[in-house]
Amino acid sequence: MAQLWGGRFTKETDKLVYNFNASISFDQKFFKQDISGSMAHVKMLSKQGILTEAEKDQILTGLESILNDVEAGKLEITDEYEDIHSFVEANLIDRIGDAGKKLHTGRSRNDQVALDMKLYTRDELCEINDLLKELLSVILNIMEENTNTYMPGFTHLQKAQPITLAHHMGAYFEMFKRDRMRLDDIYERMNYCPLGSGALAGTTYPLDRDYTAALLDFAGPTLNSMDSVADRDYLIEFLSAMSTIMMHLSRFCEEIIIWNSNEYKFVEIDDAYSTGSSIMPQKKNPDIAELVRGKTGRVYGALMSLLTTMKGIPLAYNKDMQEDKELTFDAIDTVKGCVALFTGMLRTIKFNKEIMEVSAMKGFTNATDAADYLVNHGVPFRDAHGIIGQLVLYCIEKNTSIDKLSLEELKAISPVFDNDIYDAVSLETCVNKRMTIGAPGPDAMKEVIKINKSYLED
Ligand code: ARG
Repeated sequence: MAQLWGGRFTKETDKLVYNFNASISFDQKFFKQDISGSMAHVKMLSKQGILTEAEKDQILTGLESILNDVEAGKLEITDEYEDIHSFVEANLIDRIGDAGKKLHTGRSRNDQVALDMKLYTRDELCEINDLLKELLSVILNIMEENTNTYMPGFTHLQKAQPITLAHHMGAYFEMFKRDRMRLDDIYERMNYCPLGSGALAGTTYPLDRDYTAALLDFAGPTLNSMDSVADRDYLIEFLSAMSTIMMHLSRFCEEIIIWNSNEYKFVEIDDAYSTGSSIMPQKKNPDIAELVRGKTGRVYGALMSLLTTMKGIPLAYNKDMQEDKELTFDAIDTVKGCVALFTGMLRTIKFNKEIMEVSAMKGFTNATDAADYLVNHGVPFRDAHGIIGQLVLYCIEKNTSIDKLSLEELKAISPVFDNDIYDAVSLETCVNKRMTIGAPGPDAMKEVIKINKSYLED
């Protein structure tokens, strides 16, 4: 049991208490960040004349060797240390002796852990941002290739109006684009350095907090030492942004599961991203999409969990806050895994364009356009709506569609119909005429693709 305190204790910590309290099993995840934070701290201490140049060099060499040995697998992080901070400091003292004992001058584990967690999550946030960018480029590819691939658009999961596959994919492009913007916002807000806040009240040493902040690529130091050690808002925001990413992925997965079903057959998930059944030889299941949908609950859980943990904590640091780590780490790993796998699944998915188009032609997706035709020929919209309603009923009885009726049949319902109705309700016209920005018409779509392309190139 190696711990950084004990001077004022007369008894050993109970073994169960020690284990309950220890965090090394999970906070070793940020051992690199712990070492970079210490390096910045030591450089600052020597710049300020608190440590000598020689002490600084000794400590930096020691920290560097610990980092290298852990990475090379020569030094194992074991649970004989209470946490990663104790592990690094104890090993440093082992290696360089007395100079190592000066590392923690003007620092507390409270500002240290606040820094480590920020450094770690800041890196991970950037990785998730990059993974989303990759996903967006796959979506954009599909959009570029499918500005003329017709499919039904749905409301209430009922066929509504014809759209294109590019348009449908474009909706997800916007969602994941917003997700990236949210991450950028969080980055900007969180990017202030807590190091130098001490346990809660700063320190009496003449620390240069601007200097450590700059060394660690922060925009500046945090401005209240109590808030610095007690703030986990950025994790809550990050978990919320990750929950939204998962919500978007989950909706997309749900659609893919529906489209991949025997009834729809709009898509076929690649064999590499499908799984079989142990009993039913014919099965090819969309397990990856289902798992991503399922794991969404896990990430929501982490958000609820941290919100609940934080709600009753008085200022400043309290040990409750150690609970921020495992759930955030799990959420990050879950999101990274899900985005990466989903991207692979989408890149390899096959769209059955003919089936999509046939489906768009069935189900009266052109009924609104038929009503608009009448309106353009002077019929008030409400009357036109009623006439087309009758027409749809007639088609259902005859098991046919509006565009297949003869002109006599059409005229029997409204004399306004003429030969140009067939062109007006064709799938192509229905889509192509929707040409305002944001609509599925290919010209509007190409405009949007251009904008999104330059967004990705930025
Ligand atoms: N393992 C602790 C955490 O994650 C580090 C900070 C310990 N500070 C303290 N005062 N006990 O929060």
